[in-house]
Amino acid sequence: MAGDGEVHSGLAGVISHRSSISSIIGATLTYRGIDIDELAENGTFEEIVCLLWNGSLPRRDALEDLRSGLLREFELPAGVLRILREVPRDADPMRVLQLAVGALGAFDPDRDSNAPEANRRKALRLTAKLSAVTCAFHRIRSGKDPVEAPSEPGFAATFFHILNGRKPDHVEAEAIDKALILHADHELNASTFAARVTASTLSDMHSAIASAIGTLKGPLHGGANRAVMETIQAIGSVERVEPWLDDALARKEKVMGFGHRVYKQGDPRAKHLKLLSRQLGDLTGQRRWYEISERLEALVRERKGLLPNVDFYSASTYYCLGIPPDLYTPIFACSRVVGWIAHLFEQYADNDLIRPRALYTGPKEAHWVKIGDR
Ligand code: COA
Repeated sequence: MAGDGEVHSGLAGVISHRSSISSIIGATLTYRGIDIDELAENGTFEEIVCLLWNGSLPRRDALEDLRSGLLREFELPAGVLRILREVPRDADPMRVLQLAVGALGAFDPDRDSNAPEANRRKALRLTAKLSAVTCAFHRIRSGKDPVEAPSEPGFAATFFHILNGRKPDHVEAEAIDKALILHADHELNASTFAARVTASTLSDMHSAIASAIGTLKGPLHGGANRAVMETIQAIGSVERVEPWLDDALARKEKVMGFGHRVYKQGDPRAKHLKLLSRQLGDLTGQRRWYEISERLEALVRERKGLLPNVDFYSASTYYCLGIPPDLYTPIFACSRVVGWIAHLFEQYADNDLIRPRALYTGPKEAHWVKIGDR
């Protein structure tokens, strides 16, 4: 076929890969066959990392190995820290994260190898260092020094500590842990596809993750969580939700945090984040953001029949944890890197160059015109 077949706009509904990592059927999401509700209620982020990378839940010793392996990898090369000190303080942290992943690739001792053992080592490094970069850049831009990773019991607690310079309490650590679990993988979403496309050329893991970060950044994908917070801040009060929505819909604007390419009966992750948003709102005396969100949810459902996605209640959840909105998408990346890596393992193990066709719609039979005759 010479680029003249049926066009699948946005590749909607096209199945391009076989994958045994995560599945979306109706309103059910599973990682390796286990329902996301079960994972969110029982798991820790590190257990999910093992599950996604290895295909099954870890025994205690394997889990401990992963925990200590990750903990050793939070340290950033001095050259990467220097770069973080040099970039403009008002640079978008997603852009900085993408830049830093490129630099981490240059410093990585396994940079020239795509061998499975080298990729396993890079997987640990990338997973710890994406968090280290996100937190270090935030501290540097706030006029503070990066914090060395302490031996906290768990990835989520370590993340919180190196971001804020203090240990989290139980509620804070659990909220981060749950958010990380819920964002860790999601079948063949746009950023995962981008990572697989890059790896399919046999480019390296850091390059594939940099592609994925650039893709996640957009507001139709991971960038939506930041846009949601900007929306609910702009609305400001429950009474203003309805007039704000009327205006937005009249202008044919999309309401961030609603709708989904695959879920049409609701995103199963949203209810967990909704609960967290309410609990944290109550605990921190900031219930307003939850109430605005809940009212917006009801009205968008009524007017457009659209349901909230993972990004909607994560915004107010992170806000109540004191995290600035421009870090919401980087935090998504700090979790999703685990899913990207699981897909890269799969891609490298059975690679096929991903190269679709386009239906040509340009001029036919055109001819060269000399510069003086144009
Ligand atoms: N607000 C208002 N209308 C929306 C909407 C939203 N968030 N999401 C979808 N729609 C409407 C579209 O305008 C379109 O209406 P039309 O047929 O009258 O033109 C219809 O629903 C289908 O939307 P479309 O964008 O074609 O669906 P999609 O499957 O391509 O898009 C998203 C899925 C996620 C890109 C889309 O729902 C969206 O842009 N949501 C907001 C951004 C967001 O939250 N992204 C995070 C996703 S996890």
